[in-house]
Amino acid sequence: MNETLKTLETRRSCRKFKPDMVEKEKLDMILRAGTYAATGMGKQSPIIIAVTDKTLRDQISEENRKIGGWNEGFDPFYGAPVILIVLADRSVATHVYDGALVMGNLMNAAQSLDVASIWIHRAKEEFDSQFGKDLLKKLGIEGDYEGIGHCALGYAAEPLAAPAPRKENYVYYA
Ligand SMILES: Cc1cc2nc3c(=O)[nH]c(=O)nc-3n(C[C@H](O)[C@H](O)[C@H](O)COP(=O)(O)O)c2cc1C
Repeated sequence: MNETLKTLETRRSCRKFKPDMVEKEKLDMILRAGTYAATGMGKQSPIIIAVTDKTLRDQISEENRKIGGWNEGFDPFYGAPVILIVLADRSVATHVYDGALVMGNLMNAAQSLDVASIWIHRAKEEFDSQFGKDLLKKLGIEGDYEGIGHCALGYAAEPLAAPAPRKENYVYYA
């Protein structure tokens, strides 16, 4: 198996992160991989917001927790120090597909650099809310963006779970 296939097959979601920050060099490589995802008609509809500031990271976590309906004190980002938020331009017909591919590139690039990751949901609700709109405004981001997903990044605090067995009939040859 070559390195690319190994990376794709060994990536697993991390649900317990160390507080250690991901090195800027690695973060830049992961982000760059995200920007090279395929997009419908090459329109590059997604954008990525890289959150490393702890205060902002905690505010986003709190919003996500409330949307998810979890009890106070729960961190839906499992302690990850970095959150990469992928949003995509609603005016592009393929924007959700485009954003999902960016998410995949981010997670797989992270895996290739031994950085742990997980997709955390509810970005749509977050950026449809006043909290998200205010954040985009504060960052000077204009346009009609839909939240696609958060890629939480960091170093795993414990070994990652083994993958679930692949279901039968996943693939049909025709
Ligand atoms: C669209 C999507 C949304 C997800 N949202 C969450 C989430 O909010 N919280 C979480 O703990 N895991 C979330 N996950 C991670 C999945 O639970 C995980 O990918 C799945 O259990 C398979 O495990 P693996 O990533 O280790 O292969 C999400 C994954 C995807 C693709």
